[in-house]
Amino acid sequence: MNLSSMRIFDGGQQFLHSLLRMNFTGLSGQIQFDVDKNLVHPAYDVLNIGGTGSRRIGYWSNYSGLSTVTPEVLYRKPPNTSVSSQHLYSVIWPGETSIVPRGWVFPENGRPLRIAVPNRVSYLQFVSKDRNPPGVRGYCIDVFEAALNLLPYPVPRVYMLHGDGRRNPVYNEIVQAVAEDRYDAAVGDVTIVTNRTKIVDFTQPFMESGLVVVAPVKEVKSSPWAFLRPFTFQMWLVTGAFFLFVGAVVWILEHRINNEFRGPPWKQITTIFWFSFSTMFFSHRENTVSTLGRLVLIIWLFVVLIINSSYTASLTSILTVQELTSRIEGIDSLASSNEPIGIQDGSFARNYLIEELHIAESRLVILKTQQEYSSSLHLGPNRGGVAAIVDELPYIELFLSASTCAFKIVGQEFTKSGWGFAFQRDSPLAVDLSTAILQLSENGDLQKLNNKWLTHADCSEQVNEIDHYHLSLKSFWGLFLISGIACFIALVVFFYNIVCQYRRFTPEDGAAAEEGEIQLARPRRFLRSTSFKKLIDFVDMKVDTTKEMIKRKSTDIKRQGSPSSDGHAVSPS
Ligand code: SER
Repeated sequence: MNLSSMRIFDGGQQFLHSLLRMNFTGLSGQIQFDVDKNLVHPAYDVLNIGGTGSRRIGYWSNYSGLSTVTPEVLYRKPPNTSVSSQHLYSVIWPGETSIVPRGWVFPENGRPLRIAVPNRVSYLQFVSKDRNPPGVRGYCIDVFEAALNLLPYPVPRVYMLHGDGRRNPVYNEIVQAVAEDRYDAAVGDVTIVTNRTKIVDFTQPFMESGLVVVAPVKEVKSSPWAFLRPFTFQMWLVTGAFFLFVGAVVWILEHRINNEFRGPPWKQITTIFWFSFSTMFFSHRENTVSTLGRLVLIIWLFVVLIINSSYTASLTSILTVQELTSRIEGIDSLASSNEPIGIQDGSFARNYLIEELHIAESRLVILKTQQEYSSSLHLGPNRGGVAAIVDELPYIELFLSASTCAFKIVGQEFTKSGWGFAFQRDSPLAVDLSTAILQLSENGDLQKLNNKWLTHADCSEQVNEIDHYHLSLKSFWGLFLISGIACFIALVVFFYNIVCQYRRFTPEDGAAAEEGEIQLARPRRFLRSTSFKKLIDFVDMKVDTTKEMIKRKSTDIKRQGSPSSDGHAVSPS
């Protein structure tokens, strides 16, 4: 305000003095001004007006702020304006409630919310036109109404059908209309996708959704090679290798003491093979006599027991579970083929397939009704139908529950998303409804509505589920590791013993003496290779023979070392 431009009228000063001198009790209390021209002890009653009357819920004064005690009493006490002392009696709000209302959120007071509802022609369980008020029905409408009931304020609303009723409306257009203020909100099976979240605000999803591929399936005829299927190729390879490895380890450990593991080389090779593979059925006839051999074998038999029982269980499942296959394995094989793909009329799936997966528009076939879904899948690509349908899981679950088990979901759900209610940007209703939807989900009401409207398929399992019965190395490597470690320890102990025995059997000088003077003249490498050959020969030798030789050798050495009767050492023979 431009106070300097104000003029003082004649007698103004006199009027001011009269006002400042005032001291009387008026309608609102004591009227008196201090030297600063402020009201002395200004104070008011705080009234709660509602319904047919009003009630005093406290006082306000500039001396002590809000209080439930009259200011006259407080003037006699020292001033106290601390936050904790500022309180009033509780307010009764319209609707006879003491809960503080959130306020009226709509700009144009009282105008009902214009809610767009897709006028669907397929999957009417989700949302459809209704003859009775409020004019629409379905799962999405029930969820919306239940969420609104949880809001602490009423939301006047009018449902407006979008679409001509002959085809599903284009959902992108509904969302666009909300963004352009032709509607205040869109309620229905509206998928939350990036393009849409850029122009409107979505609530939290009330339904999980994602794109899947549905294709016709046929039963697999049992194969003569079904017995190979319980294990993966890698598993077969490692198991076979371990049979041979353990056979070889047992042969090494037994060869020196057990006649059954001795003989001509070809016989020993067959023994290794025969012994290894007969452990598969616990039918090996060769006895193991060494402690190390027995240790390795018992651990290996445990491994074989587990492998055998897993194989039996897996083969039983493979042969007894009905197996279904489809030419199309998932979205990747579908996208890379050139076959027609069915999509739902009006759905975002069309844009997604063209823009994200770069599928030619000419391959996309719009399916308007559920009958078209099954007839085009039955016809197949060669007779004017489609090879597969790409649509959201909730629709496909309904479709499969109503159709025969000739179609299945193939591969994985390849997008993850959900359905939400769309509101104009920054609408507080979107936030409040999100909370309400979460509440519905947490208290189980959402599931109850789901059970009421949607029935689920019996044959909705995925076709590649049979893969679960293939056993891979991942489940067994621990067993192989234990067996491998046991073999390794046994071999280390065995060779340590051998080396100790070999040292006793052939001390360096003794070896030289045995070979005679000619060996000393040979090159060093030759010396090493002959001593390696000797070690191998020693390992190959039967243990009884070695013991005998060691005994003989130590007797010889003793004889050499003991002085003869004439005081001379006995010369070596
Ligand atoms: N849920 C789809 C969409 O929002 C319509 O089927 O595009």
